[in-house]
Amino acid sequence: MHEQKPPHAHEESPLNSKYVFLEGRIGRGRYATTFLCDNVTQSPRTRLVVKVEFPGEEDKLLRWEYDMYRNLKGIPGIPCIHDFLTDVNGSYLFMDPLGPNMDDILKSCGGQFSQKTTVAVGLQMLDRIESVHQRGILHRDIKPSNFVTGGHQARDQIFLLDFGLSAFWKNTETNEHIPHMREEITGPLDYCSINIHEENLPSRRDELESLCYMLIYFLKGSLPWQMIEGPEGDWRHNEVGRLKKETLLADLCSGIPIRFQVMLEYVRELEYDAQPDYQHLRNLIQGGDLIDPYNHVYDWAP
Ligand SMILES: Nc1ncnc2c1ncn2[C@@H]1O[C@H](COP(=O)(O)OP(=O)(O)OP(=O)(O)O)[C@@H](O)[C@H]1O
Ligand SMILES: [Mg+2]
Repeated sequence: MHEQKPPHAHEESPLNSKYVFLEGRIGRGRYATTFLCDNVTQSPRTRLVVKVEFPGEEDKLLRWEYDMYRNLKGIPGIPCIHDFLTDVNGSYLFMDPLGPNMDDILKSCGGQFSQKTTVAVGLQMLDRIESVHQRGILHRDIKPSNFVTGGHQARDQIFLLDFGLSAFWKNTETNEHIPHMREEITGPLDYCSINIHEENLPSRRDELESLCYMLIYFLKGSLPWQMIEGPEGDWRHNEVGRLKKETLLADLCSGIPIRFQVMLEYVRELEYDAQPDYQHLRNLIQGGDLIDPYNHVYDWAP
């Protein structure tokens, strides 16, 4: 089980000379816990977020996440990483503090977004996913809680974080697509594609199917399979997968503009190694709502 409190650095830890942890955690996931801390070597102190992996958890995912962030360096809307340290008590990834995640924002907006905000959020999310794909990487855990706003500095910019489950979709030396194979489902279920339920190795198309489910969720406030209760084990995996396949797209997309259904149909038709047409998806999300997502008054604006 994760520790709930900020870690106390070991005497000889390199943490001691540089960082002070603040009380209270801000996030708690499958393999790591997130806290606030101050870098005390700077004047004034700089506030950072630190993601901590304690020993004995799933091994070395945080080190992998750090390596992925290095591959993604410089992309707008990907958090800036400041440091990575390890000591006998764990591993620590230091990054810029950002704002609340989309799940929490959605709750604070009453459980649904307006169409204009959904379009603006969707266009930014698509930009993030496309730029990650351009570096040969798949995020593999696309869901609302892994998108956050930019915090005080950039309230209306949407960031994509949490690259612990990421992987390459192509061999970056040969540029060849990673061959198709079977892979057991590992991530959470609500936003994953039908292909993932069928234990196909994820590829770019699957991240875009997840984007479709998120946008439908933002517009409608729920997805039919979220009603299936129970732990994220085999039973729920089968039931959620069954419902995703059986629900008519016309029902899933009832009451929202038809273009979101067209978008889902398009991504579900993509082959495993197909190059998605991101501009086509951008046009579908945008429709007649001519919105600049980087200059938009979002539903959560004060
Ligand atoms: N830099 C940050 N600034 C602000 N909030 C953050 C930051 N990093 C993480 N968080 C918050 O902490 C939550 C968990 O972080 P993250 O997704 O990286 O951890 P995780 O252990 O992989 O979680 P999960 O398994 O639930 O996806 C995020 O949903 C977000 O709300
Ligand atoms: Mg997460």
